[in-house]
Amino acid sequence: MMEHTPASNQHSLNGRTLATDGFQLHPEDAAAMRAEVSHYEQPQAACIEALKIVQRRHGWVPDAAIPAIARVLGVGPASVEGVATFYSLIFRQPVGRHVILVCDSSSCFLTGFDQLRQALSEHLGIELGQTTADGRFTLLPVCCLGACDGGPALMIDDDVYGPVGVDDLPELLEGYS
Ligand code: FES
Repeated sequence: MMEHTPASNQHSLNGRTLATDGFQLHPEDAAAMRAEVSHYEQPQAACIEALKIVQRRHGWVPDAAIPAIARVLGVGPASVEGVATFYSLIFRQPVGRHVILVCDSSSCFLTGFDQLRQALSEHLGIELGQTTADGRFTLLPVCCLGACDGGPALMIDDDVYGPVGVDDLPELLEGYS
């Protein structure tokens, strides 16, 4: 059973402290991170997967998760923070249920990024960096998705699409409720 100790702002599971600064690291996630670490000689190599584990459960990675991850991996918080900052698919602020990443790198820029971005903004009523009022979509720019021969490309959650025409958007977005 998971317990919360308000005085210390920490959580414990069978006597094991799993969280710091109010962030509650799920015991299954901590176990998954330890399993990841066991695959590498250097624990830092598990940072990205550990961050993905937290993001899968919470939708994003709050600041308070960084020291909690670092403690489980046995690395310094700066190592985890460095990876979290560098990797654009790790979200450091709350996002909507679905994240739309629109590629603004060179190939997609030349094949219609701006028209696609504008159509998305009009369809959703938000600009890049914003989330719809109903929390359904967050719209973000991203560097190359590796689908350069199919630009303009975008990614919704884990799905990459391209080339995406303006007329494709209503049906495409309909699939993400
Ligand atoms: S430039 Fe857009 S996917 Fe590579």
